[in-house]
Amino acid sequence: MTNDILKYLREKEYISGEVLAKKLGVSRVAIWKQIQRLKNMGYKIIADQNIGYCLISRPDLLLPQEIQNGLSTNYIGRKIYYFSKLESTNIIAKEKATHKEEGVNEGTIVIAERQSAGKGRLGRKWFSPTGGIWLSIILYPQLSPSYIPRITLMTAVAVVKAIERCAQIKGQIKWPNDILINEKKVCGILTEMSAELDLINWVVVGIGINVEIKKQEFPEDIREKTTSLKEALRKEISRVRLVQIFLKEFERYYELLKKREISLILKEWKSYSHTLGKKIKINIGENIVTGEAIDINEEGALILKKGDGELIEIISGTII
Ligand code: BTN
Repeated sequence: MTNDILKYLREKEYISGEVLAKKLGVSRVAIWKQIQRLKNMGYKIIADQNIGYCLISRPDLLLPQEIQNGLSTNYIGRKIYYFSKLESTNIIAKEKATHKEEGVNEGTIVIAERQSAGKGRLGRKWFSPTGGIWLSIILYPQLSPSYIPRITLMTAVAVVKAIERCAQIKGQIKWPNDILINEKKVCGILTEMSAELDLINWVVVGIGINVEIKKQEFPEDIREKTTSLKEALRKEISRVRLVQIFLKEFERYYELLKKREISLILKEWKSYSHTLGKKIKINIGENIVTGEAIDINEEGALILKKGDGELIEIISGTII
C-alpha cells in the first residue's frame, strides 16, 4: 500500500487522509500508519490538519518504489528484493534462482545499500560500503553456457552506456569486465551460473558501481587504482536514476543477445575498449601470457598476438 500512497503523494501537492483512504479502500488510521512507515524509511512528509499530507523530500535510497517509479523496462527490475544490508546480493540472488522461489522470474533483482561480504572475481572480496550500487540480476536465458562471457561483455556495455547517459562521462572497458574512469576502476561485474551440459539453468549477473565513495574510504591496497563517480566527476549522481538507466540499457542489449545478435554488442564493446591495441600480460590460471590485444571474437574471447606472431584466443583471465 505504501507504493500507492506514494503515487498519490507525488501526483498532488496536498492530499487528505480521507481522500487517500477512499481511493485505497482502507481506513484513515491505516493511511496514517503507512505514512508513519514512509517517514521511518526517510520520506519527509508534512501533515496539515485542513488540507492533508504533502511529500517534501525522498530519501536517497535504492528503494524498489523509487527505482520502479519511472523505470521503462519490460521485465528487468520489475521485481526487486531490497536490503539495507546483506552479505552479498549475488549469494541471495543465487539462492532465489536455485530454489526457483515464487515470483523470481527473468529480470528479478536483488539490491542492497551495503554488503558485509561482497564478492569479487577469483574469490576476492569486493568493498561495498553505503554509497555504491550493489545489485544482482537473475536471468534464465535459453542459451548454452558458452554464452556466459558474452553476457558479461554486454553487461559491461550496458554499464558504460548508462554512466555516459547519466553522468556525461565516457568510461572504458578493461577486458573482460572492469569499467574504468580516468584509468581507475569504478565498476566490477561478477557473473555466476548453474548449467547442464548444453543449457543454462540460471545466471546471476552481479554489478558493483562505486558512486558516492570517498577516496580515503577505500582500503589502502586498492585506493590508488579505484575511483567512484563522485571522485571522478566532482558532482552528485542520482543512484536511483543511474540504476533506472542501467536496467533499461541492460534489457536492450540482453534482448539482442538472446536473439544471438552479437555484432552490435561487440561493436559497442570495442568502441569503449581500454584493452585493444595495447601490449598486455594476462594471468590465465597457472600461466602468464604476453602479447598485443588485437581483437575480441564472436564468443567474447580476447585475441592476443604473441611476440612470435602466434594468435591465441583467451576466454577467461586477468590482465596484470
Ligand atoms: C570484480 O570486479 O571482481 C567483480 C565485482 C562484483 C561486485 C558485485 S557487487 C554486487 C554483486 N554482489 C557481490 O557480492 N558481488 C557483485
